[in-house]
Amino acid sequence: MDNKVYFFDTTLRDGEQVPGCQLDTHEKIEIAKQLEALGVDVIEAGFPISSPGDFQSVVAISKVVKNPTICALTRAVEKDIEVAAEALRFAKHPRIHTGIGASDYHIKHKFNSTRDEVIARGVAAVKYAKKFVEDIEFFAEDAGRADNVFLARMIEAVIAAGATVVNIPDTTGYCLPEEYGQKIRFLRENVSNIDKAIISCHCHNDLGMATANTIAGIANGARQVEVTINGIGERAGNTSLEEVAMVLKTHKSLDLYSNINTKKIYPLSLLVSKMMRMPVQPNKAVVGRNAFAHSSGIHQDGILKNRQSYEIMDPEEVGVPQHAIILTARSGKHALKHHLERLGYNNLSKEELVIAYQKFLKLADGKKDVNDDDLILMMDGKVTHSAIELNRLQVVCGESIAPTATVELKIGDEIKSASMVGNGPVNAAMRAVDSIIGEQIDLEEYLVQSNINRSYDTAKVHVRICHHNKSYVGFGVDTDIITASVKAYLNAINKISSLKAKSYSEVVLAN
Ligand code: KIV
Ligand code: ZN
Repeated sequence: MDNKVYFFDTTLRDGEQVPGCQLDTHEKIEIAKQLEALGVDVIEAGFPISSPGDFQSVVAISKVVKNPTICALTRAVEKDIEVAAEALRFAKHPRIHTGIGASDYHIKHKFNSTRDEVIARGVAAVKYAKKFVEDIEFFAEDAGRADNVFLARMIEAVIAAGATVVNIPDTTGYCLPEEYGQKIRFLRENVSNIDKAIISCHCHNDLGMATANTIAGIANGARQVEVTINGIGERAGNTSLEEVAMVLKTHKSLDLYSNINTKKIYPLSLLVSKMMRMPVQPNKAVVGRNAFAHSSGIHQDGILKNRQSYEIMDPEEVGVPQHAIILTARSGKHALKHHLERLGYNNLSKEELVIAYQKFLKLADGKKDVNDDDLILMMDGKVTHSAIELNRLQVVCGESIAPTATVELKIGDEIKSASMVGNGPVNAAMRAVDSIIGEQIDLEEYLVQSNINRSYDTAKVHVRICHHNKSYVGFGVDTDIITASVKAYLNAINKISSLKAKSYSEVVLAN
C-alpha cells in the first residue's frame, strides 16, 4: 500500500457551514488558491444545489485552480448530481461527492427507510454520478455509529458501482480513536473490493477526538483525510489540517507522507481566521498564538539552552514567527518589511512601504507591541492611498447626551467634514461619513473583537455594508473603538468601485 496520505480540504464546504462564517466567491477563490499553494490534493469547493452562491463558487474555483481535484457535494439525489456536474464543468480534475446515511439513526429517523433501500439509493447515486465524471467519492453518513457488518456491505456495493473513494464519516464526533481505527481495519479486511478505492476519514470534533480518530484511521489503512484549516466546521468543528499534517511530520514512525508544504500553514490559518471572522483560540495546537510562546521562566531558560527541550516542532516548519511579540514603536522600516513579507505581503513599492510604516508607527504608538494579527488588520486597510481616508474624529456621548460625532475625511486632496447625531457614537460617526460622501450605505454586520496585550487594548472591528444590493466587508483597528469602527466602515466603502469611479472632486462638490 502506498504511504501517501491525500489531503482533502473541506474548509470551503463543511467549514463554511458555520453560522457567521459565510464567504463570498472572491474570498473563496482567494482561499482556494492558497490551498493549492499549500499542496492539498482535493478541494471540496461547495454544495452546488444548496444555493446559487455555492454553485457559482464551485464554477469559479474550477476555472482558477488547476492542480488539486475540485470536489462538489451532493445528496443521493439525481437533481443534486446534475447540478454538481454542471458546476464542475470547467474543473480539470472533477469529483462528485455523493452519499447517504449509514447508521440506523439516519436510516430509520432521517430517511424512514430500510438498510437495503439506502444501499440501493447509494448505488444508484454512484452509478448516476459516474455518467458525468469518473472520480466519485461516496460518503456513508454517520458511519461512526453504523453497524460495521452493514457498513461493509454498503461500501462493497458502492465500490462495485464505481466509487473511487469511500468516505467513512464520524459525523457526530462520537467514536473513540481505537473504535474508529478498528472500523477502518474491519472494512479493509471485510470488503472484498476495497483495493479498488481509497478509504477516507472525515471526523468531527464533538469530543475533541477528531485528530486522534483521523490518525487512528490512517494507521489502519485509510489514505485520505478530510480536514479544514483551523479545524473550523459545524459545532465543535472538523479535523484540523494543520494538526494532521504536523502529526505526520513529527511522528516519522508512522512512515506516512503528504504533499503539504507545512511552511504555508500559519499564513493560511491567519487568512481563514480573518476572512471567516473566526478567531483562533490562543492555545490551539500548531497555529494558536501561544502554541510556541514560552512564558514561564523555567521554559524560557530551557528554550534558550536548546529549543528541543520544550519544542517538538520547529515553529518555522509551520511558518510561525519565532516570537509572538514581534515589533514595537522602535522597530525600523526594514523590520516591518521583513515581517510583512513573512505574512505574504510581498513586492511592496517604496511608496507603499512608507505608507505602511506610517500606519504602523501610529498603531505602535498606542500599543506596547504589535503582533501578526495587528499587522494583517493594518494591511487590510490597503497600503495604497485610499480614496477616502479618516482625517479627524470627535465624538461627544454619555448619559443624557445625544451622541454626536464630527468626522473629517480626506477625499483626494480635499478635506470635508460633517457632524451628525446618532443612536450611539458609532452610529453617529457612520452617519456623518454617509452625509459627507452622499451615499446610502446599509450597515449589515458589525463585529468588535478586543485584542488584549498586557495592559494595552486594541479594538478590531469588522463590518459588512450593502450598497446597491452588493455587500462589501471592511476591517479597522485602533486603540480607540470608535476610530476602529470608522476605519472599518471606510475600508469597506473604499471597495465600492462605483464610488471610486467618481472623481474625488465630484464626491466633494456633491456635498
Ligand atoms: O459529517 C459528515 O457526515 C459530512 C458528510 C456530508 C460528508 O460532512
Ligand atoms: Zn462533516
